[in-house]
Amino acid sequence: MDVKLIKLQSHGDDRGSLVALEELINIPFAIKRVYYMFDTQIEVRRGFHAHKRLKQIAIAVRGSCKFMLDDGKETQEVCLDNPAVGLCLDPIIWHEMFDFSEDCILMVLADQVYDESDYIRDYAEFVKVANNAS
Ligand code: TYD
Repeated sequence: MDVKLIKLQSHGDDRGSLVALEELINIPFAIKRVYYMFDTQIEVRRGFHAHKRLKQIAIAVRGSCKFMLDDGKETQEVCLDNPAVGLCLDPIIWHEMFDFSEDCILMVLADQVYDESDYIRDYAEFVKVANNAS
């Protein structure tokens, strides 16, 4: 599976660091929604879904967490622990997040507003859709 990580430029000086996110410049879509997860309990695993059309980019702006990505054929684990790295979550990728550090703030940029009808929450249905899509 092709895991797409976007290296974001970090503007650092002796005052600290700054990363800018700009639609259609370093973020490859128009940003319609931003959400973030925090205070996630260490033993929690969340996600357990794929999206039909939604494109997203996840950034651990603080702390770290892991992603399990599944394209219906193979799975891959990715650790996000750098606020200057974005993980592309394309449509029809089943994803689960786990191993959240206590301080983790996981921010996600999305190209659509929240729409429950875009979710595939049933794994068997996901495998069917993924195999028809390829
Ligand atoms: P949920 O989809 O269960 O999170 P995850 O799959 O990442 O574990 O979302 C948790 C709750 O937040 C659920 O009630 C839906 C709501 N929600 C919104 O209202 N807007 C959003 O943009 C998102 C991502 C979730």
